[in-house]
Formats: sequence, structure tokens, C-alpha cells
Amino acid sequence: MTSDPVVLALRAAIAANDSAELRAALGEHLLGSGAPREALDELEAGLRLAPGSGPLLDGAARAAEAAGDPGRAAAYRLAAKALAGPLSPATPLSTPSPAVRVPDARGDVDEEDEDEDDDETPSRGERLAGGPNLRLLSSDGEPIEDDAPPSVAFADVGGMDELKARLERSFLGPLRDPETYRRFGKKIGGGMVLYGPPGCGKTFLARALAGEIGARFTEVGLSQVLDMWFGESERRLHELFENARRRAPTVLFFDEVDALGQRRSQLRGTAGRNLVNQLLSEMDGFASRNEGVFFLAATNHPWDLDPALRRPGRFDRLAFVPPPDAEARQRILELKLGERPVAGGTDLARVARMTDGFSGADLSALVEAATELAIEATRKRKAEQPIDDALLARAAKDVKPSTRAWFEVARNHAIYANEGGAYDDLLEHLEAIKLA
Ligand SMILES: Nc1ncnc2c1ncn2[C@@H]1O[C@H](COP(=O)(O)OP(=O)(O)OP(=O)(O)O)[C@@H](O)[C@H]1O
Ligand SMILES: [Mg+2]
Repeated sequence: MTSDPVVLALRAAIAANDSAELRAALGEHLLGSGAPREALDELEAGLRLAPGSGPLLDGAARAAEAAGDPGRAAAYRLAAKALAGPLSPATPLSTPSPAVRVPDARGDVDEEDEDEDDDETPSRGERLAGGPNLRLLSSDGEPIEDDAPPSVAFADVGGMDELKARLERSFLGPLRDPETYRRFGKKIGGGMVLYGPPGCGKTFLARALAGEIGARFTEVGLSQVLDMWFGESERRLHELFENARRRAPTVLFFDEVDALGQRRSQLRGTAGRNLVNQLLSEMDGFASRNEGVFFLAATNHPWDLDPALRRPGRFDRLAFVPPPDAEARQRILELKLGERPVAGGTDLARVARMTDGFSGADLSALVEAATELAIEATRKRKAEQPIDDALLARAAKDVKPSTRAWFEVARNHAIYANEGGAYDDLLEHLEAIKLA
């Protein structure tokens, strides 16, 4: 039992009225008094009350370091950085807004002000989707795609007409006009998984949907957001859903959902299993609690998703996102060439026809290769050589389409796991490319 009067006073205050500020003060004091373990406990308790708080994350990083837990320290630093970064949401996804009451460990509802980290800088989320809740983070926690166009809409997505029509029916219609759907007794909500080979526009399409519906879209960067919180993941997931329920009608987009929704039988640790269970229970009963909440997900391997996630009301529909067709390839080439010098009369439609089986990522590589050739020629001649047909054709020879390997793996799943015709559109494509 300590006799430090500051500690005693702060503990008494916490007992009377717990808050993130008090926990931060106590944590910092304990850290300063050479008790990093206890400090970390307090700071983590504070983070449970205000998960997005920069000072608490920073304090927790220092305390973990001092307590000899560099892994945890790094995770907190990463979290602090991610939340402070230029792409961070103005209101972090995780920070419960005053309207959301998060039960504390005793099951009580906390009345405290949740320490809104009010950051005025416009977030990537606001720029992209007009909403405060979007977070774009790569698997290593770094903000991603800073160079992507600030806002994309369906018009930017080349080809994919059928898919766009499907998204229109499933998401855009009900979001724009929920009343008509209700009048016809149609429930608003439900889920869909976009799947297909890497680099073929799943994320891009989902963000285009975001561009169409603005603030009604929340992207969840799961892998990092969820595992750096040491047991807090389930709670954060719950908050995410609570936020969505409050804002309904709305779309929650789980990119790379396999990071979260893997088959429980494949997960070794209990942490992952708990998370899948939490996700299942949040998605459950969508008829009532989740009315107006749509679930969209993207993955390269839908067959690895926990089967329970595919039940009605959850991610019950699968939509195949094929490699870009010629029209989409031309659009991608235009996008990737952007502002670079391109010779007049360059026939991108022709390049698009030559690149069957290329993914968006392959086309990006092609443009990079052509650009390098143009730079080389420019430097050699000391006169500008813009990117032209000949350079693009040369580059196209060096880049190999990457989607085939995925189809070879997908083939077995499509044939042997096609219950209820779930993979029919994939099978159709496999036939078209002579793999089935
Ligand atoms: N139909 C399309 N129209 C315009 N651009 C596209 C299209 N498909 C893909 N792209 C381009 O290709 C890039 C890669 O696509 P994206 O990142 O969406 O692929 P993905 O399917 O999510 O891949 P992964 O499975 O690796 O996450 C996009 O940034 C976009 O520029
Ligand atoms: Mg993606």
C-alpha cells in the first residue's frame, strides 16, 4: 500500500468518478515515481475510457518501454502515430462520441466526457467520403494510398457494369430511398463480400461506393486497428457497430476481412477466436439492431472466412470482382498515366486490348516501366521523349499478368465448395479463360 499522498488522492478521485484524465494523471505520476508497471495499468485503464487519446497512448508507450515491454511500447507508439497522422479521422473511430455509452469493466455506463481528441485537420476520410469515420491504414499501420485521387465515384471505375448495378440495387438504392423499401416491407441491411484476384479493384470499387454515398460509409482497416489494443479489440469492434447503428442507414466496409473473420478452426490463439465470435454476435440479429446497417467486405480468399459469417443477415452474398476488362484496363491506364507526358495520338484502347489478364496492379507496373523507358530516352537525347505507343508496347512485354496464379488456386474452391451456386460467376469466368 502506497503512502504517496498524490497517488492516494488520485485513487480516491478515481473511485468517486473515474475518468480518462484522472487515469492519465495517475499514470504519469506513477511513471515519474519509478513505478512503470502500475503506471501502465492506469494508462491502459484510461485508454479503455478514451481509446483515441494521444497523451494516453504516448504515456502508455513510455510506461511499457520503462516496464521492459518494448513490443507493447511499439504498438502504442504505432497507434499514437496512426491516430495523429494526416489521414487520421477527425474523430477517431474508436473514440466513443458522447452519444455512445461504453459500459466499463463493471458493466456500468460511463458518464464521463470521453476526451475527444479534437483534431481540426481535414482527414482523409472527410476528403474521400465526406465522413469523419474513415480510416485508411495498411497492414503495417501506415496511412496508405496518399497519392490516390481524393475522391472516386462509380464513374471512375472502368467496366464492371454488372457489379455496379448489383451494388446499386443492394446498397445505393436503399441508402438513398429507405422509405420506399420500407413501404414494400423490404428490410434495409445485409451484407456482401467482394472477392477476386489481388489488384483487380475490390478496394477501389468499395471506395467508389464511398464516393457515391459520402458520410454514410465507414472503412475499417482491421488488421492493425484490432490487434494493437491488447484485449480491447472486441470492445472496439462493438463501438464500431454501435457507431454505425446510430448513423444508420450506413455501410461498414471491412477491407481484407479475412484478417478478422478467419475460420475459427484455423485460428490457434483464443484472441482471434474471440474476435470472430464478437463479429458474429455484432452482425447477428440484423433484423432489429442492425436495421439500416449494411456490411460490405473484400477478400482474396472468401473460402477461408468462417462459414458462420456467411449465414443469412451476415455476409450472405458473394460478388466476384474479375480482372479488369478492356474498358476498365483503358481507364486504369488513363488513371495511372495521370499527368505524365504522353504523346498525342497514343492509343490506350490498343494497349488495353493487348493486356488481357492484367490486374490493376500489373497495369500500374506497366505504366511505371514505360515511364522509366521514356525517362531514359529523354536523358539520352536531351530532349523530351513522351510516353507513347511504342514504349507502352515494349513495357507490356516485360510485365506478366499476375491474376492466373490466383485463378488456379480459386479453381478448386469454386468446384468443390460451390454450395448453393455461391461461386457460379467465378466458374463462368474460369470457363471463359479455359481453366474450368
Ligand atoms: N475497374 C477499375 N477501374 C479503374 N481503376 C481500377 C479498376 N480496377 C482496378 N483499378 C486500379 O487498380 C488499383 C488496384 O485495385 P485495388 O487496390 O482496388 O485492388 P484489390 O482488388 O483491392 O486488390 P487486393 O486484393 O490486393 O486488395 C486501384 O488503385 C485502381 O487504380
Ligand atoms: Mg484491396
